[in-house]
Amino acid sequence: MSAHKDVVLDEVRKFDQDRRPQDGFVPGVTEIWPSGAVLDENDRVALVEAALEMRIAAGRSCRSFESAFARKMQRRKAHLTNSGSSANLLAVTALTSHLLEDVRLRPGDEVITVAAGFPTTVNPILQNGLVPVFVDVELSTYNTTAERVAAAIGPRTRAIIIAHALGNPFEVTEIAALAAEHELFLIEDNCDALGSLYDGKLTGTFGDLTTVSFYPAHHLTMGEGGCVLTGNLALARIVESLRDWGRDCWCEPGETNKCLKRFDYQMGTLPAGYDHKYIFSHVGYNLKATDLQAALGLSQLAHLDDFCAVRRRNWRRLREGLDGLPHLLLPEPTPRSDPSWFGFVITVDPQAPFRRAELVDHLEARKIGTRRLFAGNLTRHPAYADKPHRVVGELTNSDVITEHTFWIGVYPAITDEMVDYVVATIREFVTSRGGR
Ligand SMILES: Cc1ncc(COP(=O)(O)O)c(C=O)c1O
Repeated sequence: MSAHKDVVLDEVRKFDQDRRPQDGFVPGVTEIWPSGAVLDENDRVALVEAALEMRIAAGRSCRSFESAFARKMQRRKAHLTNSGSSANLLAVTALTSHLLEDVRLRPGDEVITVAAGFPTTVNPILQNGLVPVFVDVELSTYNTTAERVAAAIGPRTRAIIIAHALGNPFEVTEIAALAAEHELFLIEDNCDALGSLYDGKLTGTFGDLTTVSFYPAHHLTMGEGGCVLTGNLALARIVESLRDWGRDCWCEPGETNKCLKRFDYQMGTLPAGYDHKYIFSHVGYNLKATDLQAALGLSQLAHLDDFCAVRRRNWRRLREGLDGLPHLLLPEPTPRSDPSWFGFVITVDPQAPFRRAELVDHLEARKIGTRRLFAGNLTRHPAYADKPHRVVGELTNSDVITEHTFWIGVYPAITDEMVDYVVATIREFVTSRGGR
């Protein structure tokens, strides 16, 4: 069998080499995507090897990935999920667990978040019967501030969930201190910021819980996938239970009686000795990932540092190339941070002699892909119109983002040549419209 496997995997390597694009970059013809998966021969082999072995459910690759990723992210526990959105759902839902006793979140409790961002950072608040409290963000960092969060804390506020905006860390030391002072839980949505640093520490190491996405747009990919990380073993156990149908038992699939008490439990009004594998202590989900995803994730993990370095380099080259151009507000790292950027955000000055749509059309026509800062002001979307929420202060900057902001790519498949073309294209447009 293993000889056959070697032959197959050897052929897979050859197949991969055949599939590598041969043509170089052709300005205006080659697509410069804003984001995408960067996959190599080893990734293809890892995926095929898992498929050959028919490891189609969650198994040993999932466990290996969880250990390796927890180590890399400097947290005690990592739980793999089928998406970053599921990771956020698990993180928020975990805070409602009866196992947290008096500190659990209850329906009607408030969770502070930002108005400009991705919907599934916010949706789990509503899905758990909690109330989002929206604050505005700054332009240029696209993050909120500890001051804004402090102003939003009310008598029913119990938690904070904020994403590090497009890789740029929010003031997480300050916001974690605020959370500690007011006995609030803090969840860092780190989906866009793998490898970012604040005060020299990895983002994702400050909060009670942290989430990651492995969708192809993100720093690492498994196709679809996500992860919840925590340093708190009680929270980790709750996340695992919620992810795995709500069961109380922590044996892996295929494992039995790890605790040596499988038939010795008595819980609820169940008969004594009811099989612990089938005792449910949470109203859970099944949000697990598969070994196929984890095998790819393990192979991708080896590239994380290199990927982050290219993201930083591309961002810097864009920033330097566009510096001084009028009518565009260029992004700034949050002070004391070293972002592992997700994208390069540009806001067109509302007073500029051109509109965002014109610049975006100009770029898209030249095969330079653009994206919006996700939803912009979420409170303006139909989904949230009739949902309970509180807004603290004005959402002026979130509105500016909705109307004037977009981002372009920095992901590792983007080369210096491409960045230079993007810079020249933007410069040419702005100059032709009256900028110098
Ligand atoms: C900040 C943020 N949170 C959560 C998600 C959701 O991740 P997924 O697409 O894996 O569900 C995304 C997706 O891009 C995101 O950008």
